[in-house]
Amino acid sequence: MPESLLQELQERIRSTGPMPFVDYMQLALYHPRHGYYTTRVPGHGVHYATAPTITPWFGRLVRRELHRMWEALGQPDPFTIVEVGGGLADIAGAAMEEPGWLAGALRWRFIERCGRVQELQRKRLGTAAELAQWAPALDTSPPVVGCVLANEVLDNFPFHRLQLDRHGEVREVYVDLEGECLVERLGPLSAGELVDTARQVAPRLQEGDRFEVCLELEGWCRQASQALERGYLLIVDYGDVEPDIWLQGRAGSLKTYGPGGMGQDPLREPGRQDITADVNLSALARAVEAAGFQPQPLTTQRAWLLSLGLGRVAPRRIRGRPGGVAGAGRGDPGRIEPGPQARRRGRAGGPVGVPGGEGGPAASGWGRQRRIAQLEVGDRALYARALSDGGPLRRAGGLRPRSGGATPPIEAVSTPRSASPAGRR
Ligand SMILES: C[S@@+](CC[C@H](N)C(=O)[O-])C[C@H]1O[C@@H](n2cnc3c(N)ncnc32)[C@H](O)[C@@H]1O
Repeated sequence: MPESLLQELQERIRSTGPMPFVDYMQLALYHPRHGYYTTRVPGHGVHYATAPTITPWFGRLVRRELHRMWEALGQPDPFTIVEVGGGLADIAGAAMEEPGWLAGALRWRFIERCGRVQELQRKRLGTAAELAQWAPALDTSPPVVGCVLANEVLDNFPFHRLQLDRHGEVREVYVDLEGECLVERLGPLSAGELVDTARQVAPRLQEGDRFEVCLELEGWCRQASQALERGYLLIVDYGDVEPDIWLQGRAGSLKTYGPGGMGQDPLREPGRQDITADVNLSALARAVEAAGFQPQPLTTQRAWLLSLGLGRVAPRRIRGRPGGVAGAGRGDPGRIEPGPQARRRGRAGGPVGVPGGEGGPAASGWGRQRRIAQLEVGDRALYARALSDGGPLRRAGGLRPRSGGATPPIEAVSTPRSASPAGRR
């Protein structure tokens, strides 16, 4: 059995040929033994901070949003939060810190495929773990009345990387070997679903420009819908709307977070750095509607947290620092100064995923409540209020399956990248 992910990748590529970047990313983050997220979770060994790990105020403010939802749903008991990729259970911990909150109706279901992370979550919750349950996937448990919640998760869904070549054609990035080193090569699109997007985006790109396409959003939103008998979907993540999401230049929006900080070389030290890209909020909105949800306002995290009362409850330093809080002792609401190692995820030099940041991830709730219809698109964020008659769910239909099959032949060589030498890990 290969000792490192690099060795395993080398063996696989030697025996079956270059793999689309999306498959490489799946292994780099979620390989059962060596994947970055199989062995790490924010708050425990990762190389950046997420908002819930920085301050318990984030979870406390989410608790207010959940309370609004509970009221709007008619105070159901139980009221279950289905949290996907819940990290170290910081949101759940803060939301459940007051005993008897929501008249004792609150329950938490973690969707977590890694047993080791499940253990960390149990420990973090202490006695509140009695109100929690765990499932490896969204579709393995009966539907609930409540909310499906995902904070900074969708940006870690494996994505395809596409590039405009010198002939004006959009091609896909594959991972190949040159000697012992991982290198990138351009090849044909590996999934039929990419063709329409490629045609749409090509005229807007210059030679060498890259962009990412995540094909998992539709299926995931459908599963989120099926996980709910009644309730809301709340997603907080970095993202942008079309066409801006595609127009980020030669590197696209891909970023890595590893021991050396933020970078843009995902082939370096596979399994030892995070790989992420901005979420296409336009594609997400379409997927959410196709899954039967009604869009509500999509806004910046900053505006959302302020609407929940951040200005009244949080210590002044949380909201007052431009760029937000870089790191804080978990479980210590009074200490909010940056820790020396803290890094934030997000655009370089730009918004950060913390309260008080100028921007931060967009937050969006999609529910099935009666609301006034109103849709408005801002320059970077989408603001929407949607109308629902509260009727039965429109189930998503006609989703096209992702075309699988053998890796197509690689036709062109492009941008070989320096990569980890063999045996470096
Ligand atoms: C950046 S971390 C965020 C963790 C936490 N929500 C936070 O804000 O601190 C992303 C997490 O999502 C998990 N994840 C990604 N895709 C997932 C999926 N389809 N189902 C469950 N968890 C997933 C990863 O394993 C990882 O733990």
